Amino acid sequence: MYQNLIKSIGNTPLVKIFHEMPTQVFAKLEYLNPGGSVKDRSASYMIEQAEKSGRLLPGMTIIDASSGNQGIAMSMIGAAKGYPVIICASEKSSVEKINTIKAYGAQVKLFPPTNTLEDPNSYHAQAVKLHKNTPNSFMPNQYYNIENRHAHYHSLGAEIWKQTDGKITHFFAGAGTGGTVSGVGTYLKEKNPSIKVFAIDSNHSYRATNGNPKPYCLEGMGIDFTSPVLDENVINEFLEVSDTQGITMLQYLARNTGLLIGPSSGAVAHAAHSYANRMKPNDLAVAIFGDSGRAYLSKNWY
Ligand SMILES: Cc1ncc(COP(=O)(O)O)c(C=O)c1O
Repeated sequence: MYQNLIKSIGNTPLVKIFHEMPTQVFAKLEYLNPGGSVKDRSASYMIEQAEKSGRLLPGMTIIDASSGNQGIAMSMIGAAKGYPVIICASEKSSVEKINTIKAYGAQVKLFPPTNTLEDPNSYHAQAVKLHKNTPNSFMPNQYYNIENRHAHYHSLGAEIWKQTDGKITHFFAGAGTGGTVSGVGTYLKEKNPSIKVFAIDSNHSYRATNGNPKPYCLEGMGIDFTSPVLDENVINEFLEVSDTQGITMLQYLARNTGLLIGPSSGAVAHAAHSYANRMKPNDLAVAIFGDSGRAYLSKNWY
């Protein structure tokens, strides 16, 4: 029993996948959070910290930029706590995610995709502008606020360590802001420095192409700016995945295992599966499945 919806975030299950492999790989089903993604954790933590420090007061409007899931989480929390919410998103985001934000009563402003977040026309830049021009507004600023990383340190990192009884040896997560992989990576390495941490990126991102990004359809992940939230010190390797590899894997998992996951999870699963050949039988990997395939059915990937 939970006293409110926000308190029900977290404690998602770990489910074994790739049974045919000699090593153990577990998927962390973050899509079972109440807002449907891993972003419930960062959104709730950033809002809580802002309330505690007096940066967010009753009656203020929450404004942020999001590829979709952070916007969904913010809108759900806004509805639960009584804050109006405005989300700036890319036209690339699925229609399901945009409609979910609207269903919580939040406003959505859509902008054409740009190659980097630092572009003055990016949905992030537009959110900053809107925040500056909106009196009595608060911007959690997930792309630049290191509380995003701290959220995953305290919540997801601690949870995975406990659930695996400290036996985890490898950790795989998609990187967008880098908050998930850096926060969890920091926690795990403090507990056991030999744990290997992998950030999964799109092979077309700003980082992967050394500043010559190309469009890609994997949503939510892809490092397209110099992120202060990403802590490279805790990342052993960046693994780059193509759209085709990510989508082939999500089709396989939906049809053969009953796991209906989104594109970033498909990419993470592809990376973990490829890397698992290099792992030993007693190793234990955890791969983050950040959201559900139900949010992308209109993309016809399944
Ligand atoms: C489904 C999904 N997976 C992974 C990520 C990347 O997480 P992070 O921003 O913490 O790097 C996101 C971010 O929006 C996401 O929505």
